[in-house]
Amino acid sequence: MSAVRDSLVEEALATGTLKGLPDGHFIDGRFVASEAGGRMESFDPGRGAAFAGFAAGTAADVDAAVAAARRALAGEWGRATPAERGRVLNRLAALIRDNADRLAVVESLDSGKRLVEAEGDVRGAARAFEYYAGAADKLHGASIPLGPDYVGFTIEEPIGVAAQIIPWNYPLSTAARGIAPALAAGCAVVAKPAEQTPFTCLMLAELAHRAGLPAGVFNVVTGTGREAGAPLTDHPSIDHITFTGSVDTGIRVMQTAAKHVTRLVLELGGKSPLAVMADADPDAALNGVMEAIFENAGQICSAGSRLVIERSIADGFIDRLAGRMEGLSIGHGLRNPAIGPVNSAAQLAKIAGHVEQAKAAGNIIHAGGNIARPSNAADGWFFQPTVVAARGVKDPIVQEEIFGPVLAVQVVDGLDEAIAAANCTDYALVAGIYTRDLSKAYRYARAVDAGQVYINEYFAGGIEVPFGGNRKSGFGREKGMEGLRSYCKLKSVVARI
Ligand code: NAI
Ligand code: MG
Repeated sequence: MSAVRDSLVEEALATGTLKGLPDGHFIDGRFVASEAGGRMESFDPGRGAAFAGFAAGTAADVDAAVAAARRALAGEWGRATPAERGRVLNRLAALIRDNADRLAVVESLDSGKRLVEAEGDVRGAARAFEYYAGAADKLHGASIPLGPDYVGFTIEEPIGVAAQIIPWNYPLSTAARGIAPALAAGCAVVAKPAEQTPFTCLMLAELAHRAGLPAGVFNVVTGTGREAGAPLTDHPSIDHITFTGSVDTGIRVMQTAAKHVTRLVLELGGKSPLAVMADADPDAALNGVMEAIFENAGQICSAGSRLVIERSIADGFIDRLAGRMEGLSIGHGLRNPAIGPVNSAAQLAKIAGHVEQAKAAGNIIHAGGNIARPSNAADGWFFQPTVVAARGVKDPIVQEEIFGPVLAVQVVDGLDEAIAAANCTDYALVAGIYTRDLSKAYRYARAVDAGQVYINEYFAGGIEVPFGGNRKSGFGREKGMEGLRSYCKLKSVVARI
């Protein structure tokens, strides 16, 4: 129980907003207004109403932020030892924990996600800075044996200014998992949070400043993708881009990056399969399937949005799944219902469109299937938890990322069919399996194309585990020691002695 959290929740629910939200871009260690004076509003998805304004940035603000980052690299941050960088990140982790209640309430209000999930995201963000704080002074190069007349070694140098384009589904955790390794490696950062959820990234930048990060090392420009995101990715003076978002925008960002030969990591969508074999622990599998698709109302790139299930257990399992869904509460994220709102009116329309298309095509709807209007949040953006039977592998409900609480069910016979079903989309981000048979689990893990495979616990692991996709899900890896390498450029040095 936290009195601070409870009073913030009360303030937000009673007044529809919160006092003391950050205002302005965070550039060179302070909050500044847009050079062109632009403003826009962010919405509370639980009420479907605007709750606070923020700066709408343009290329001029991006220029100022990138210039500040360049200066910072040339200054004391560029000379800081790895141990000193680690100490700043540890202090930031502590400050995130000290401010966890406020960060979580702002994140929940701005994104719509349930408060308990936002609290988990804040813990995860602190953990990301703690993890990479410990890694800053362990970025070893290698010594290369070239015989008695040479000395050869490699150095991991910071790549320079790293741009971060952040989506609205995990605003704080996506920011943390990109910015923590960038700072640990010695880079400077310009972040562009999503226009739907700008606030926690701004709060993070201010906390980093309070933790002792020199001005200009961590800058945030808020605004739309077109006005602020595009000029950032098109900036000739950035050295790396980490982009998390849709495939279409990812392609555009990659095309822009190509103009300047800028390195990038793309973390795009998914349509991840979760296989439940007949021998699985049925209760663990049921809980796993529910969490995989209903966490953050299904708005996760790594959501387990396809249930691949063996025929012999399919009917009973789907009945139990549908039964569990009927009892789920839907409501404002700050009230901690079982399912919160989706992030925007546009996202709600997109989800409803996919489900209506399936209905029109004759798909059986096992549960849900409609926009929801909970009595205590009638104007918010809600969709019922939904289970749809797939009509074969070409079915759009199987192929298209919906990014909402909509589970497609593919019924299969045996492991080989489960593997084929798992591999049947253009995406390759995550795959999960529930089975008590170790050899089935590992055969599936090897045969499925995915950046990560979860066995008997979907979403297992944390910041320690590398994460990323293949094919249309993108490339490059975040998290883990692997995530640090995105922010380094390797130099080989060879001397004749
Ligand atoms: P989006 O990919 O357009 O937005 C993600 C970020 O990119 C935001 O910060 C946005 O401002 C920025 N952006 C947009 N256009 C840009 C450009 N030309 N240059 C640089 N940055 C740009 O995604 P959107 O429209 O918010 O959502 C559409 C769909 O994308 C969702 O329905 C979902 O399917 C998918 N999505 C996937 C995410 C993931 O975690 N992989 C996260 C968010 C959305
Ligand atoms: Mg918002």
